[in-house]
Amino acid sequence: MAKLNLAVIVGSNRRDSINRKLAHAIARLGGDKFDAHFIRIDDLPMYNQDNEGNLPPEVVRYKNELTQADGVLIVTPEHDRSIPAVLKNAVDWGARPYGKNSWAGKPAFITGTSPGAIGSALAQQHLRAVMVGLGTTLLGGEAYVTFKPNLIDEHGNVGDESTRTFLQGFVDRFASLVGRLATPEAARSAA
Ligand SMILES: Cc1cc2nc3c(=O)[nH]c(=O)nc-3n(C[C@H](O)[C@H](O)[C@H](O)COP(=O)(O)O)c2cc1C
Repeated sequence: MAKLNLAVIVGSNRRDSINRKLAHAIARLGGDKFDAHFIRIDDLPMYNQDNEGNLPPEVVRYKNELTQADGVLIVTPEHDRSIPAVLKNAVDWGARPYGKNSWAGKPAFITGTSPGAIGSALAQQHLRAVMVGLGTTLLGGEAYVTFKPNLIDEHGNVGDESTRTFLQGFVDRFASLVGRLATPEAARSAA
């Protein structure tokens, strides 16, 4: 049976990104409901309004992937108490050109991790404000994850049991939200 199409965006272009590891582990938690597709953002050119009339091919590909998604999971680090530039660039391309906002109406689950005690909370808060403005339907609650060496185990799963239970709750609620907002066909097959 077809699963819900989940676009996964990692707000880091770092090779060994802890947020990418977390994103893969979260995608596994939703494996029975979601078909997860990791969307590249590190090859998107720097946003420039001059290019809106003739979108670069990477941007066309990226916006198509967003459009096809039933829901979007964004897992982001915090850079200087805000949204990393690579992610903000991707958000802006998703929103443009005017009238072609690929975010509008998309259910989105925002989370992220940082070794800091507040686990990327300020980046997530800034991102939430931006995404609400762009018309996404955000999953409620706060999923701030402090990165510890045992957060992701050697198999790529969330290693810490309480964090796994915490995140599983978000994933289950997100599957329910996406199922309700997705096209009737997608929602039926994921039920
Ligand atoms: C430019 C820069 C700014 C950072 N600012 C913050 C910050 O404001 N808060 C925080 O908790 N960590 C901050 N960090 C540390 C990141 O949490 C850490 O590098 C983390 O590994 C980034 O996630 P990633 O591995 O997924 O790229 C910063 C790192 C960089 C490179």
